[in-house]
Amino acid sequence: MASSSSAPLLILILLLHLPFHRIPFTAANNLHRSRSLGLDLTSDAALTSNLATVPPTRFFEVTKPIDTLPTKPCSYLVLRHQFAYTYGKPPILANYYPPSGHGCPAREFSKIVLEWTATCRGRQFDRIFGVWLGGVELLRSCTAEPRATGIIWTVQKDITRYHSLLMKNSTLAVYLGNLVDKTYTGIYDVNITMHFYPAAKKSGFDGLNSGNSVPGYGSKADLILPISRNLPLKDGLWFEIENATDTDSKKFSIPQNVYRAVLEVYVSFHERDEFWYGNLPNDYLNANNLTSVYGNGPFREVVVTLDGETVGSVWPFTVIFTGGINPLFWRPITGIGSFDLPSYDIEITPFLSKILDGEVHEFSFSVTNALNVWYIDANLHLWVDEKSKRTTSKLLSYSSVPLLYSSKLDFKGLDGKFLIGASRSILATGWVNSSYGMITTRWTQKFNFSNHMIVGNEANMQTVNQLIHYDDRVDLKTESSSVKFIRSYKKFPFIYYSNILDQGNGTSFEVANVTFAFNENRGKNAAFGVSKSKLRNVQRANGYIVVKNNLVVSGLGSTAEVYKYDSSRDCYFRNVSSSNYTILHDDVENSCEGGERQSPLGFGLKRHAIVQFRRAVLESESEGI
Ligand SMILES: *[C@@H]1O[C@H](CO)[C@@H](O)[C@H](O)[C@H]1NC(C)=O
Ligand SMILES: *[C@@H]1O[C@H](CO)[C@@H](O)[C@H](O)[C@H]1NC(C)=O
Ligand SMILES: *[C@@H]1O[C@H](CO)[C@@H](O)[C@H](O)[C@H]1NC(C)=O
Ligand SMILES: *[C@@H]1O[C@H](CO)[C@@H](O)[C@H](O)[C@H]1NC(C)=O
Ligand SMILES: *[C@@H]1O[C@H](CO)[C@@H](O)[C@H](O)[C@H]1NC(C)=O
Ligand SMILES: *[C@@H]1O[C@H](CO)[C@@H](O)[C@H](O)[C@H]1NC(C)=O
Ligand SMILES: *[C@@H]1O[C@H](CO)[C@@H](O)[C@H](O)[C@H]1NC(C)=O
Ligand SMILES: *[C@@H]1O[C@H](CO)[C@@H](O)[C@H](O)[C@H]1NC(C)=O
Ligand SMILES: *[C@@H]1O[C@H](CO)[C@@H](O)[C@H](O)[C@H]1NC(C)=O
Ligand SMILES: *[C@@H]1O[C@H](CO)[C@@H](O)[C@H](O)[C@H]1NC(C)=O
Repeated sequence: MASSSSAPLLILILLLHLPFHRIPFTAANNLHRSRSLGLDLTSDAALTSNLATVPPTRFFEVTKPIDTLPTKPCSYLVLRHQFAYTYGKPPILANYYPPSGHGCPAREFSKIVLEWTATCRGRQFDRIFGVWLGGVELLRSCTAEPRATGIIWTVQKDITRYHSLLMKNSTLAVYLGNLVDKTYTGIYDVNITMHFYPAAKKSGFDGLNSGNSVPGYGSKADLILPISRNLPLKDGLWFEIENATDTDSKKFSIPQNVYRAVLEVYVSFHERDEFWYGNLPNDYLNANNLTSVYGNGPFREVVVTLDGETVGSVWPFTVIFTGGINPLFWRPITGIGSFDLPSYDIEITPFLSKILDGEVHEFSFSVTNALNVWYIDANLHLWVDEKSKRTTSKLLSYSSVPLLYSSKLDFKGLDGKFLIGASRSILATGWVNSSYGMITTRWTQKFNFSNHMIVGNEANMQTVNQLIHYDDRVDLKTESSSVKFIRSYKKFPFIYYSNILDQGNGTSFEVANVTFAFNENRGKNAAFGVSKSKLRNVQRANGYIVVKNNLVVSGLGSTAEVYKYDSSRDCYFRNVSSSNYTILHDDVENSCEGGERQSPLGFGLKRHAIVQFRRAVLESESEGI
């Protein structure tokens, strides 16, 4: 079952048996769409004789609402567009004007929010899209898959960190590669609105930087440079990494009075690597002559270099797009991160001495073991010392422990067990002297990875048990103060089961379940105001689909999610579940009362623990979706 879409092996095994491809070959090969399934909407349409009278289903991603001040925002629409046949065409462009250009009173803003709202009706795949301002990426996201009766969804993203960019005239670009034909009819009708929340007082942004002995930390960058492809082009502004040796680069230069730099990296994975965590080792594929099955094993790492030297790495979170595994899982609760993909920060400050010379330098991106295709770009956030023309800097120490990789393969014919492990660390220390004094920055990244896979039932059954540890830390020392730090420690568990039953008549019955989580502990100490936060965001989904000729003709998907955020400032808790498009229960708490809750898949997780799924409530005959 499970998904054909998510178990790459399984999908292709199926191909060997069946004369057709799940997704038309032209689409799979030529389009940067995910290997997701469309839904047969005939019975959905039959649900009502007059579609227009049925209200659209609201889809959503569970996340902590953005803290805004009780002030009334200055809001305006920056783009409205209907994305019909947009694949392979230039991004949609709009002139962007800051709030002053919209008659909003000139003042400071404590919070800036981008709001994406879209409607769609019909049948359509999940489409990846990006929103860029002046080439700087603000949002990477995936569309929801519509139904015949229509859907609507809204994504709100805190984009306050792009403040300096948002105060200037610029060009907004949106690329959403959609394809419309007789079968895939959905047109995405999109509004992008900006909300600017005035600061309560005239000075200081949200008090973030007040009493802060180390400038540049906790405040927003003064300048943000795009590390993406330049307009005009016919695609997204992201670079496309097509294989394990492919590298994409961007040249840039920075002002000579920068005292802090952070590279924010956006990544998403598609086509042959959409489900990279389920890809099988090549030795197994070769031994079984499975030449068309997606391989290179399940480990992926995005490596970022500056003038050829590794400065940081991204071990990405396992985002599942809205058509992934079983499209019915994500209706209406979408997968963690799918409507707002995480970006990842790399501290460049220790390396500033390499790029403060006013010359042109180069960031490059590559993906270890990559298969076609990864979309990657970045934003370089810079803090500029207004009081001096030049800052000086020196790299004191640097070590990049190369990737340690291990694999244990144990298979006989099509059935086998595979254990892949990897780890790496990067450490760099450097000082910068500016009008704020001499600040020494140490940047540390530590990663490890394990993936335990089992393939059985003649490769129709697959389980994956993966865990990523992702530990980032920035330590700072000024002449007068002791060490301060900011730390983010993330854990991404991913546990998956799928089984496909080929029914021999062009139809297959697929069962799948998945449990995965985005867990993060953040901490910083006195210099930034002591603060700690803990996020446990766990999703479990299970269900089945019956697939015929690329289309899901019937099925059931159930999803349960527990989102728990606790910090010294605020707390948020939500426990929500759905089945067959219906919310079963939804508990929300905003207060920190109630004490510690034990999260079901927290940091105490045993590496290869077998998690018992709560069975879905409804198991009756499915409607045609
Ligand atoms: C977009 O904005 C227009 C104009 O304000 C409104 O009529 C329309 O319903 C909005 N569409 C969506 C999808 O929010
Ligand atoms: C921004 O654009 C507006 C409208 O074209 C123009 O009046 C204004 O001078 C521009 N501002 C800057 C800083 O270029
Ligand atoms: C990898 O992709 C690049 C960019 O398309 C291409 O030039 C190169 O030949 C590919 N390498 C391999 C080994 O396929
Ligand atoms: C491997 O598969 C190819 C293509 O299906 C076929 O031509 C070839 O004979 C197979 N080789 C073996 C050793 O089975
Ligand atoms: C740092 O820069 C200041 C001038 O901005 C200078 O007086 C001081 O000597 C410099 N310190 C070091 C250690 O280079
Ligand atoms: C993985 O990384 C975490 C965090 O750095 C560490 O606590 C743990 O011991 C590491 N595990 C292995 C097997 O290296
Ligand atoms: C295919 O075979 C299965 C199992 O025998 C059966 O339940 C199903 O109705 C068949 N579907 C079609 C479309 O023939
Ligand atoms: C979430 O809600 C379900 C159903 O009410 C309940 O069984 C479960 O224990 C709750 N989980 C947490 C962590 O509160
Ligand atoms: C997934 O479903 C299978 C088959 O129903 C079941 O045996 C297995 O325990 C489930 N796994 C999880 C992690 O829930
Ligand atoms: C899903 O809900 C519809 C009604 O909205 C119902 O007709 C159908 O039987 C349900 N499907 C399953 C598998 O429970």
